[in-house]
Amino acid sequence: MQTQRQNLPFEKIAVSPEWCFKNVRSIEQWTHGYHRYPAKFLPNLVKKLIEDYTQPTDMVADFFAGCGTTLVEAKVHGRQSIGVDINPVAELITNAKINPIDPKKLEAKFQNLIKKFDDFDPKDYSEINLHDRIDYWFSPRHKYKIAFLYEKILSLRDKTAREFFLVSLSHILKNCSKWLQSSTKPQIDPDKKPTDPFIAFITHTKQMIKRNKEFYDKLTETDFLNTACEIRLEDARQTTLESGSVGAIITSPPYVTSYEYADIHQLTAYWYEYITDLQGFRKNFIGTFYSLNQNTTVDSTLGQQIVNQLLKKDKRKAKEVANYFKDMQAVATEMHRVLRTDGHTCLVIGNTTFVGVKVKSAEVFKEILESLGFNMVQVIKRSIPHKLIPTIRDKKTGKFSKLKNKDSKLVYPEEYILIAKK
Ligand SMILES: C[S@@+](CC[C@H](N)C(=O)[O-])C[C@H]1O[C@@H](n2cnc3c(N)ncnc32)[C@H](O)[C@@H]1O
Repeated sequence: MQTQRQNLPFEKIAVSPEWCFKNVRSIEQWTHGYHRYPAKFLPNLVKKLIEDYTQPTDMVADFFAGCGTTLVEAKVHGRQSIGVDINPVAELITNAKINPIDPKKLEAKFQNLIKKFDDFDPKDYSEINLHDRIDYWFSPRHKYKIAFLYEKILSLRDKTAREFFLVSLSHILKNCSKWLQSSTKPQIDPDKKPTDPFIAFITHTKQMIKRNKEFYDKLTETDFLNTACEIRLEDARQTTLESGSVGAIITSPPYVTSYEYADIHQLTAYWYEYITDLQGFRKNFIGTFYSLNQNTTVDSTLGQQIVNQLLKKDKRKAKEVANYFKDMQAVATEMHRVLRTDGHTCLVIGNTTFVGVKVKSAEVFKEILESLGFNMVQVIKRSIPHKLIPTIRDKKTGKFSKLKNKDSKLVYPEEYILIAKK
């Protein structure tokens, strides 16, 4: 395997086939398939990192926990774990995924819930006053049914069960709305026939119940059911994790201005009243298009060269990328603080191109890590067969576009795993 010890430029590093997991589809295993989530980890990748770079007694942390892939795999492997994410939708999904429920109790709760469907009367909800954006995305008929489901789920006393059903409802919101199904961008599909909420909820919950049982049985068998595992709604730039408390970090930061998580999760965020407007919700996400800071000076030398090239072509892009590099600097500093000496950090990150300028985020991250005193152990290149991320940008607009567009060019077909030691 070619590694960074040979000091190769990243583009010359060969792809490591053992890290590509071609033809492997482990996303259905355990609770991984509870909820769609953009750019989520391939569980096999996390599994291999846990096996290669952690000790059984290590606390494993994920600074960008998303839908909790690292935490679920850590629990399967009997490692204590802690995750951080700024997105309350991520917190909800992760909580449901890391806390399996006794299958018999869960089935009984589900049956009780669906029995209540007989009481549904749309007239009870016709006066209901929700957010404008809910009216924008949902027909009144579907809105009333979702409001009914939401109310019944919220009345459950058991927090774990409540979160389990809230995740099922959150997952089906897109199918029951006018949102263009194949798109991560908020876009109405005028021809869409949204799915009936009751039918979608029952179907998806049944699948989740099956996965909950698999996970519960596995953890019971291995005696890892009570292995500590926690998600915190926090900013990765400044966490409440104790200094030196973490044995290994396994994480994948957001890509620079590719996903607007706030926009993507707005259906759940409005329904569950996590937000009243998108603007406030967007601003704390790293890698957002909506960052406000105007300063384009960054600490990394390579990062500054990239920003300077962008400044000549597109000032706004230059500012976004500069903010991204500054945020990465803050996150790496925080990682160094919480990691114990000799602990590893494993970062999965991809490069991209904007207006013809190569934004080498992986190389910049390596420079930042080394400047903080980390020692690079290995740089692995992998191709990404299964990750749900946009793959092409329109050459002219820089926006993600459809494959058939001849002006499109590939981005993120490969990504890097940076392994560094404190
Ligand atoms: C690439 S995704 C991580 C996906 C995750 N590996 C998984 O398997 O689900 C990046 C995550 O970073 C989160 N994020 C963005 N800005 C953040 C911040 N300032 N602090 C913590 N998390 C943040 C997003 O909410 C998103 O969940």
